[in-house]
Amino acid sequence: MKKAVFILAMIVLFACIPFSPITGATEGELLFELTEDEVDAFLANTEGHKFLRNASRDGRPVYSKDPDGGIMMSNRNADWQSLDIRDDWMERGKSYSIIVEFVSSRDTLFRIMNTDSPYATLAVTGQESTSGLLSMNIAITDGQRGVRLTTPQSSLVDYTVRKISIYEGDLPADMIVQKWPMDIPSLHEAFSEFFLFGNILEPGELSNSGTVDMFLHQYNAVTAENAMKPGNVWRTKDTYDFSAADRLVDWAIDNGITIHGHTLVWHSQSAPWLTTDSNGAPLTRTEAKANMELFISTYAGHFSGRVDSWDVVNEAIASYGDESIRNWRGQLRIDSPWYRAYANGIDRAAGERPEDYIYDAFVFARIAAPDAVLYYNDYNEEFPHKRECIAGMVEELNEQWRSDPRNTEPGRLLIEVIGMQGHYWTSNLSVNNVRDSIERFIKTGARVAITELDIPIGSYQGFARRTDSIIERQAILYAELFSIFVEFSEHIDRVTVWGKADTQSWRWEGHPVLFDGDFQPKPAFWSVLDVAAGTAEEDPPVPETPQPTETPPAQTPEVTPVPTPAPEPGPVPESNNSGFPWWGVLLICIGTAAVAASVFLIAKRSK
Ligand code: XIL
Repeated sequence: MKKAVFILAMIVLFACIPFSPITGATEGELLFELTEDEVDAFLANTEGHKFLRNASRDGRPVYSKDPDGGIMMSNRNADWQSLDIRDDWMERGKSYSIIVEFVSSRDTLFRIMNTDSPYATLAVTGQESTSGLLSMNIAITDGQRGVRLTTPQSSLVDYTVRKISIYEGDLPADMIVQKWPMDIPSLHEAFSEFFLFGNILEPGELSNSGTVDMFLHQYNAVTAENAMKPGNVWRTKDTYDFSAADRLVDWAIDNGITIHGHTLVWHSQSAPWLTTDSNGAPLTRTEAKANMELFISTYAGHFSGRVDSWDVVNEAIASYGDESIRNWRGQLRIDSPWYRAYANGIDRAAGERPEDYIYDAFVFARIAAPDAVLYYNDYNEEFPHKRECIAGMVEELNEQWRSDPRNTEPGRLLIEVIGMQGHYWTSNLSVNNVRDSIERFIKTGARVAITELDIPIGSYQGFARRTDSIIERQAILYAELFSIFVEFSEHIDRVTVWGKADTQSWRWEGHPVLFDGDFQPKPAFWSVLDVAAGTAEEDPPVPETPQPTETPPAQTPEVTPVPTPAPEPGPVPESNNSGFPWWGVLLICIGTAAVAASVFLIAKRSK
């Protein structure tokens, strides 16, 4: 009922936007509206229309005029088959606000994303539904091409963008649909005596003032979700572009928060030129090593003194395989392109091994960025065999470094932190195994960080249906984990949650993080805070789940291929602020808008 009132209030409010005092409130004019003429101009591809056509070669999506109004996208097979609003008529750095209404025939989330690579979700509807209203403030950055209106990759429904309004200047706070609460406690303040508390951000999200304000309130450490991965910063041997990463790093420095670089050497989301030739065949060991040195010395060197720490090597140990093997050399991810290239042209008689790429990466990183703290990062590290392999590898490589002539800091480890990603599942998580791994990792002499924490509801077999009780269970698991993190906090540098709100998470179907789709704190948020306050209730011990013998690798999908739509020429269109008889309707609409705003506020308060 409350939700219905809320939705009704938003619809009334939205209907009044073109006539309401919002224009005055933003102190900016209405610059664009999706009128029928605009729809026709886009579909006829008339010069000067404000959209980008994101179609694949086989003609997906089909763009058409929705009989009930707006532009419909159908026959899609990728989330980028969407409607993008061009931004070349907006001024760089200036702030704008945008309000969009979507409809679809099936329940889905709707998203506003930026088209600045890598793509970031700027705003997303609170829950899956057949209609959605999004509003946000946005600043246009240099790298941007447009603003994408779409649905998630796992929900490729037909959808219509029914209304769009773009204003100059920021929206008043009450016009923002998804709003972060700022009057709740701060996670980083609550845990300040224990460890840093981080989350992820993409450079594109820095243009959303609501997200930024919330982030600075809740977190004091940031990791780029995708922007600092090799494939996103250095696409071919001759073309690297650190500008998006620079933006995020500069922002972190300006705001006094710690920035963690993720990542240098990884099998996924890497840059193919590093390890393979133009036919996709592995380079030789010598070529790959030279590329690695060039890549790390240039990239980590560029950020030396600015990025606080790096995931130097990510996910080099396999999660599958024989659980009886506890020696890391027998448990390597042999499908990594780095492993393959280092195996190509190897001189085994001289003691060379494919896994030498791991040691090389750390040494190059130490030399390029001597002040940065260096991490080995991986998932499923709570499994006893994987735990032992990683601990053994860290001990052995740190030992090797002690007598390496390039080591100018005796007493300093090469691998200083073991990063535990922490991509768990409510049904499979054994907190006792996590505790055992932390204890084992501390014994190596390294420190520990929890780098990508999320606990979706479900199991390795898949996501489960959301119920209140499973959300409560998730809160208990979060609290149990945080109790362990606090217990070992002397050895733990940082805990980073991988996602700000459930709907923004890469595992969004599992409602995995501390805030829900309406950006409200979940039971898990409060249970985590209780741990900091030392008031966590003693819960009955969690029954241990037997470990599966075969563990599917964590979801690390490759980056969605990005189309490069043909540039659409055309002059900057005139403002769409037509000669509408404002004063004639203003009096009626002020009244309507005031009623709508009151309904909205009442509904919000009673939520
Ligand atoms: C994920 C991102 O969250 C997704 O947006 C992207 O599509 C795939 O990568 N381990 C890692 C992270 O080290 O980089 C991954 O991030 C999640 C698993």
